[in-house]
Amino acid sequence: MSAGGLLAVAVSGRGLVDPGEPVILPDDEGFTRGRAAFETMRVYDGRPFRLAQHLARLQGSAERIGLERPDADELEALAAVALEAAAAPEAVLRLYWSPGPPGGAPRAIVLVGPIPGWIDDARARGQRLVSLLHPRRSVPWLLPATKSTSYAVAIAAEAEAKERGADDAVFVDADAIVLEGPVTNIWWREGDVLVTPSLETGILAGETRAALLGLARGAGRIVEEGLYPLERLLRADEVFTSSSVREVMPVVSLDGRQLERGPAAAELQDALRREARR
Ligand SMILES: Cc1ncc(COP(=O)(O)O)c(C=O)c1O
Repeated sequence: MSAGGLLAVAVSGRGLVDPGEPVILPDDEGFTRGRAAFETMRVYDGRPFRLAQHLARLQGSAERIGLERPDADELEALAAVALEAAAAPEAVLRLYWSPGPPGGAPRAIVLVGPIPGWIDDARARGQRLVSLLHPRRSVPWLLPATKSTSYAVAIAAEAEAKERGADDAVFVDADAIVLEGPVTNIWWREGDVLVTPSLETGILAGETRAALLGLARGAGRIVEEGLYPLERLLRADEVFTSSSVREVMPVVSLDGRQLERGPAAAELQDALRREARR
């Protein structure tokens, strides 16, 4: 087993490989420049949730960072091989599409790992957020909605949030417009209305966000998407985040102000799990 606790690894052209084996060349630009596309999703009862949508997003990310388009069928087959070998019905599945060395051929790398143990505890406690300034990525060359492995800034934001005594960050742009978290989308409730920033801000089109939009609207809730200043979030009746691995996480404070926990996060978390296990 690898030091990171991986349960299974599969690579294009090789199939299943030992998780302790090297799988990329030292000059792969995914490693040297953080220029690979990737996807992370949860596996429920052995089935990756919204796999087709994640594969489509991977293809979009690859195209935007100038990589050849990955073959969705090949990735799906590799994922199936890795999931079977992992034999863990509840897991995290990660798909990477890495360009290889300059002028070389791209390759797919599929990782299956355990669900991090801290997540359910964090959900029970609720998350403390701080707002951090971040450029809005709606300008096309800033790669809006692109999931690449250049995650140093996201990790730095989480470290900065912890430095300030919080658990995680929420990004706001120079005009204090609310964007997203380093690895989450952000939501809040104003009375009966759920609110989340719209994709025109250049945020990642979260698959959990898409699932929750459908579930909330399907349950008769009103959901608004738009451009909202930080004060709206600070005045919210309830705040929560969403992501594939963390699912729905209630937020209990923002910039040091206490926030009430509310029913929407718990309802959507239940609805999400029901949908994923359907
Ligand atoms: C910047 C960013 N926003 C939002 C999300 C949530 O997306 P998803 O629900 O597809 O996991 C992620 C996930 O990693 C992310 O990196």
